[in-house]
Amino acid sequence: MKSFALIGASGFVASRHMRAIYDTENELVAAYDPNDSVGIIDSFFPKADFFVEFERFDRHLDKLRREETKVNFLSVCSPNYLHDSHIRFGLRSQADVICEKPIVLNPWNIDALLDIERESGKSIFSILQLRLHPAIISLKNKIENGPKGKVYDVDLSYLTSRGNWYYTSWKGDVNKSGGIATNIGVHFFDMLSWIFGDLKRNDVHVLAHDRAAGYLEFQQARVRWFLSVNNSAIPEEIKKTGARTFRSITIEGEELEFSNGFNDLHTESYKKILEGNGFGIAETKQSIEIVHDIRHKSPLGLKGEYHPFAKLPLTPHPFNK
Ligand SMILES: NC(=O)c1ccc[n+]([C@@H]2O[C@H](COP(=O)([O-])OP(=O)(O)OC[C@H]3O[C@@H](n4cnc5c(N)ncnc54)[C@H](O)[C@@H]3O)[C@@H](O)[C@H]2O)c1
Repeated sequence: MKSFALIGASGFVASRHMRAIYDTENELVAAYDPNDSVGIIDSFFPKADFFVEFERFDRHLDKLRREETKVNFLSVCSPNYLHDSHIRFGLRSQADVICEKPIVLNPWNIDALLDIERESGKSIFSILQLRLHPAIISLKNKIENGPKGKVYDVDLSYLTSRGNWYYTSWKGDVNKSGGIATNIGVHFFDMLSWIFGDLKRNDVHVLAHDRAAGYLEFQQARVRWFLSVNNSAIPEEIKKTGARTFRSITIEGEELEFSNGFNDLHTESYKKILEGNGFGIAETKQSIEIVHDIRHKSPLGLKGEYHPFAKLPLTPHPFNK
């Protein structure tokens, strides 16, 4: 049985990590979050110690290490801009680290972490759960077994509604989350990189507080993409069903069915890591380069190979109305 500590325990995604630790029959011994709304721990690990001050959490982990009951893994579920610091803390505590996406905001943060990983002798793993989705795995197999030189036309749309709270939270702050393409899109850009190979071109058409659209060319795909957190962008026929999310990937005009199968992918990720088959930090490089470049590009507007939703009328920031 491995013992785990967790940073960011009170947040949305932390319970998926607690469940994954529980389902893989390991133990959470300590957790930290400056926010103490953390009763969820009782559903999984009522004996775990919990800290709201980093220094006390650090002291506790150090004590466990000296008593030879050290934690084997640190799970990082904190806001994106804190990941690299929390990963370094895990490595310094002589633990392997499992970190949420995006592993970091900038490509050079990866290089620094690779150095520290090497020095520490411990490993950093990223949660890239789309790579474990059965429909995505079968798409990868199909492309690998298809004609080698073929370049596929892909349209990717991911619209997931968020209320005004989004812009008060760290998620709506580009310096903390990296913005829509980084925070919402990185899973998809990783998946595209994983399946379609090296990147050749990255154009951005729209970049706003609530949406982003662009065009990516990979070795084997031309991708028009659109991401949004604005409910008004969701197609009317979808809104009528009461749904607040619209997810679609078409390859050569054919819809990839992947609406189900998202449950338990964190547990699946943990199983792979514990078996020695986790996704290492170097594997995240291309998707982090893509989102970093998107964040820093000047949008071209409606020119070139833009996604049809890029034409949707823009809406003002909710705090600047
Ligand atoms: N893999 C996925 O499908 C998925 C889904 C959602 C979120 N995420 C990722 O998980 C991470 C957390 O997202 P979330 O949705 O749970 O956000 P959240 O805001 O709900 O939770 C973040 C938690 O971190 C805590 N926190 C803030 N500052 C901290 C600090 N200095 N030290 C320690 N903890 C701190 C907050 O109090 C909060 O409880 C993000 O990196 C996000 O991108 C991944």
